[in-house]
Amino acid sequence: MGLQMSSFVFLGKSDLKISPVGLGTWAWGDTMVWSYGNGYNEDDIKEAFDVSVNNGVAFIDTAEIYGKGKSEEFIGRFLKESGHDAVIATKFMPYPWRVSKNTLRDALTRSLKRLQLDVVDLYQIHWPFPPLPVRVWMDAMADVVENGLVKAVGVSNYSTDQMLRAHDQLAKRNIPLVSNQVEYSLLVRKPETSGLLDACNELGITLIAYSPLAMGMLTGKYTSANPPAGVRARRYGKKKLMKIEKLAGVMREVGENHGGKSPAQVALNWTISKGTVPIPGAKNAEQAEQNAGTLGWRLTEEEVELLDRKSGG
Ligand SMILES: NC(=O)c1ccc[n+]([C@@H]2O[C@H](COP(=O)([O-])OP(=O)(O)OC[C@H]3O[C@@H](n4cnc5c(N)ncnc54)[C@H](OP(=O)(O)O)[C@@H]3O)[C@@H](O)[C@H]2O)c1
Repeated sequence: MGLQMSSFVFLGKSDLKISPVGLGTWAWGDTMVWSYGNGYNEDDIKEAFDVSVNNGVAFIDTAEIYGKGKSEEFIGRFLKESGHDAVIATKFMPYPWRVSKNTLRDALTRSLKRLQLDVVDLYQIHWPFPPLPVRVWMDAMADVVENGLVKAVGVSNYSTDQMLRAHDQLAKRNIPLVSNQVEYSLLVRKPETSGLLDACNELGITLIAYSPLAMGMLTGKYTSANPPAGVRARRYGKKKLMKIEKLAGVMREVGENHGGKSPAQVALNWTISKGTVPIPGAKNAEQAEQNAGTLGWRLTEEEVELLDRKSGG
């Protein structure tokens, strides 16, 4: 038997309680990578939002760049209309033309307006892009925490070294770095081998796992006979899809041990069993419901080991 999962986890060393699985909203309004408006629309994502929060998934990740601000706007509206409460995470993009630390506060002000919030729970630096060093952005983050606009500070796509620098800089102001959001799934296991996951555990930093379904590949619905389109087609070619088909077979067998859990639910549960918080994207009620079904049960240690082996770990 697997261990029963607790209904919440703390976000790093903050007192923010989040659900062990969150909701990613990159696809909400995005037409560059995803195909918002083609196959799913505002009604679908509103349902995805409602189903998620009603099923205990109340940690929502967005970014100023998702759908050029539309994702934040949707969340702001849905929160207001539904009266639901959720822990909201958004991100600041350090574009190369943002060469002063004041740009962070300006961008945050615009994000808060779109989200219709006075304070955001988690504010993350989206990428460790130059020209400004980690130190400057962390000082800017500390300022907005002290000004009451942000409850907790996170980073995203930071290497172990960059994360440690961010952690140390914030510590000078007595502020914890609570999270590092990086790609992590059964198909992308670099955080295990690079030492990042170990460093997160040592410092009490939550590793937020993005693309935990490998952009849908780990749902088992894409095969070499039914490949994905667009950007995903370039990343996941025939050879990779054939490997994924084999892994999906193992995930289905494992899911059967738990009353018929889907490959997506098994893939998400695996990331949770590694001590991370996955934030799968959902475009409609059905996907949201399935992803919420990751809660309330646990893979056994033997199953985790099997999945480790079969995914190449
Ligand atoms: N910090 C960063 O740089 C960064 C980068 C990437 C993502 N993220 C965050 O992580 C979140 C999740 O990552 P992601 O959206 O790239 O990928 P993902 O969660 O691995 O996959 C999401 C996609 O898989 C499909 N899907 C999801 N649940 C499903 C289900 N139960 N059954 C069938 N299909 C399902 C949907 O696409 P289809 O229906 O089209 O297949 C959905 O859009 C993002 O929304 C974003 O918040 C952050």
